[in-house]
Amino acid sequence: MRKKIPAVVFLIVLLCLLSGCSGGKKDTVQTVKIGVTLYDQYDTFISEMMGWFTASATALEEETGTAINLEIVDAAGSQTTQNEQVKSLIEKGCDVICVNLVDRTEPTTITDMAEKNDVPIIFFNRELVTEDLERWKKLYYVGADAIGSGIIQGELAAETFLGDEKYDKNGDGICQYVVLEGEAGHQDAIVRTEYSVNTLVENGVKVEKLGYAIANWKRAQAQTKMAALLEQYGNSIELILTNNDDMALGAIDALKAAGTSKNDWPLIVGIDGTDVGLTAVKNGEMAGTAYNDKEGQAEAMLKLAFVLSGKDAKNGLSMDDIPLEKEKYVRLPYYRVTLDNVEEYIKKS
Ligand code: BGC
Repeated sequence: MRKKIPAVVFLIVLLCLLSGCSGGKKDTVQTVKIGVTLYDQYDTFISEMMGWFTASATALEEETGTAINLEIVDAAGSQTTQNEQVKSLIEKGCDVICVNLVDRTEPTTITDMAEKNDVPIIFFNRELVTEDLERWKKLYYVGADAIGSGIIQGELAAETFLGDEKYDKNGDGICQYVVLEGEAGHQDAIVRTEYSVNTLVENGVKVEKLGYAIANWKRAQAQTKMAALLEQYGNSIELILTNNDDMALGAIDALKAAGTSKNDWPLIVGIDGTDVGLTAVKNGEMAGTAYNDKEGQAEAMLKLAFVLSGKDAKNGLSMDDIPLEKEKYVRLPYYRVTLDNVEEYIKKS
């Protein structure tokens, strides 16, 4: 005997058919799901870059009519945590994952998982070696041209040192300097120090290195390390080169804490143009900085992720919109910032 379909079930099925739903889901808007894992969410440059990335995603949603779902997680300095995060982002169905590697020499666990699941990876800011990036065709890198930042910093330091004799405190015609470096092994730390000093010399400055310290990009560590350098070399330091603005600010904190009058401060130059860094240029505490284009890098990374997802509803963006080198790299330039143009950058960021 045939059973009767209850009226309520019939009604649900009918409503479902009329509204076009399948499996309870309404799929009229495409969604691109992008996962991001950060080496340290409290890093000043990275957090400012991510602020721009998130804002750009909202703008791109409007432009393309595609929903962009971001999931941003912090690896808090652990590569093991980051590997787990990538696994979980893949399981959650991310179309693309952006990875700010904790340890740039350890990308293989991540790249193996990505290849196995066919999820493209965009590494950013912490560059892995070419051989690792070439292990699979869907691996990309977005960052800046580190050499450029060292050259700009060296030029700024040379011009200011040669342009104002007060910086040659002992009048010996030689620039006695110290360096505050970022993490050992980070491509930006290695390249910036080398190119900055070489450029100083190429621009006619005789140099003598008094000392250096690794402060891991961090303001507080830089303050402690600078306090020790001040203890040791005191007023003989004529120039402080720093691999980023946060460490320049740490050096300034140390000078202030030591009670050094501003007129006796060494010449200080940074790299990044973070909000606090730009303010220090504006108020004359730093002679200048090399602007690390966080807006450009964030936008390029977002567009690349979006195109790689293959889900552009209006088909408005393509690989032609991404300035890719060797089909894998986006490397944006640095810009020189001094008191003369700092306002322009303050408005931009
Ligand atoms: C930035 C630093 C930052 C580091 C993190 C560098 O490019 O200049 O400020 O701490 O990246 O990886």
